[in-house]
Amino acid sequence: MDLTREEEGILQGDPSHARTKAMGILVNYGELQEADRLVPIRSAHVSGVSYLTAGEALLMFLRDIVKGGGKASIPSSLNPAGMDLERWKEMGIPEGFASKQIEIIFLFRELGITINCSCIPYEIPGAVEPISFGDHLAWGESNAVIYANSMVGARTNREGGISSLASAIIGKTPNWGMHLDENRIPTLEVNVKGDMDHIHYDLLGAYLGVNYNSDVCYIKGLKNDSSKPDMKHLGAAMAAKGGHAIYHVEGITPEMKLVDMAYSEDRIREIVDLDISDLERAKDDIYPEDLSDADGFVLGCPQFGPEDFIRLAKAIGERRVRDGKRLLVFTSREARSLVDPGILDDIERSGVEIYNDTCMVVTPLGSMGMSKVGTDSGKAAHYIPKLPRIPAGILPLEMMVDLVMG
Ligand code: F3S
Repeated sequence: MDLTREEEGILQGDPSHARTKAMGILVNYGELQEADRLVPIRSAHVSGVSYLTAGEALLMFLRDIVKGGGKASIPSSLNPAGMDLERWKEMGIPEGFASKQIEIIFLFRELGITINCSCIPYEIPGAVEPISFGDHLAWGESNAVIYANSMVGARTNREGGISSLASAIIGKTPNWGMHLDENRIPTLEVNVKGDMDHIHYDLLGAYLGVNYNSDVCYIKGLKNDSSKPDMKHLGAAMAAKGGHAIYHVEGITPEMKLVDMAYSEDRIREIVDLDISDLERAKDDIYPEDLSDADGFVLGCPQFGPEDFIRLAKAIGERRVRDGKRLLVFTSREARSLVDPGILDDIERSGVEIYNDTCMVVTPLGSMGMSKVGTDSGKAAHYIPKLPRIPAGILPLEMMVDLVMG
C-alpha cells in the first residue's frame, strides 16, 4: 500500500503511541485487503460497544489507547451499549455487568467519540450527519453500512469495532471493497411481485441474505414510497443473513449509473422472480420458532426512529399491556428527542417499556427474565439466539401488539 510521507511518519513513531497503533492497524488491514492507499473519510461509526459482545478484551484495548493519547480526529459516533445508561437498574441489568459497561462508555468519551449509542446514525441529525452521496466513511454496524451505501450512495465497508476506532483516530480508511465502483455494480436482478407489507421487507432481506450471499442485488417491483423503516429493515436482514453491504432498488436508490453499467457490461448473472408467497414460505424455513409460549416481545432492531413510534402508537390505540406480558422498545436518545412527547407518553402509559442507548441483541435478555422472545426484525430474530442466547421468532408489529395488549 502506498503511504504518504505523513502516514509513514505516524507509522514509524508518532508522539501519540495510540496514533502509531491505529495507523499500524489500518496499514495491516489495508495490506490484507490489497488496498492501494488510505482514503480520507467524513465520519466514523464505532461498533462493538456492549460488554456482552466485546468483554474484557475491549476494555484492555481501550485503556491502552486512552493511555496512549488517542483522540478521534473526525466526527465519530457510537453503536448501542449493553444497557440503558440511566435506567439499567429498571431493566434488570446485573451490577457487575453495568460497572464494566459504564467504564467502556467512559473510555470512549475520553477518546472524543460522541456517546449517541445509536445504530441509525443515518437517520438522526447528530454527530456524524449529514452524510452525502459519494462520501467515504468507516462505519461499523452492518445495518448502518448497508443503508449508507444503498440509500445515500456514501461508501463504507463493513468495519469492525477496532478498525472503525482506528479510522476515527487517523481520519482515513483503506481504499478497497465498497469504496470502489467495481464492487458496487449489481450482479443479480430480483423482481418482486405483490403488495409488500412491512414484515415482507425483513423476509425479502433474509431470503436474499441466505440464498444470494455474494451478489449485489438490483431489486425491482418495490413501491416507490417504501418507507425509511421498511428500507432499514430490508438492509438489516440482508446484512445479518448474508455478507451484503449494498443493494440497489429501482426508483429508490441513487446509484443508477452503476445499475446501467451492470446491464451494458453484461454483469447480471441471474434474474430471480419472487412473490409474496415465496417470502411467506421463507418465513417458515428461516424463522421456524413457534411463539405461542414467548414471554417477551421486543421492537427496535434497527433502533426505533420517529416513524416507528407513530406506527406503534397507532397499533396500540387505547389498549394496555396485559399482566404477565412485556413489550420492550429500543431506541437512542437522539431518535427519542425527535418524537412528539405526547406519543411517547401514550406509549409508556400503555405499559410498553422504552429503553435508550441499547438494543435487544446486545443486552442480556436472559438475565432480565426472558426465555423466548418475538420480534418484528429479521436481523434480531437471527442474532438473539446467538448473543443473548434465547430462542426468538418473527411476527409483524401489529400482531405482536395484539398478543400483548388487552
Ligand atoms: Fe441495531 Fe442492535 Fe439491531 S445495534 S441493528 S438494534 S442488533
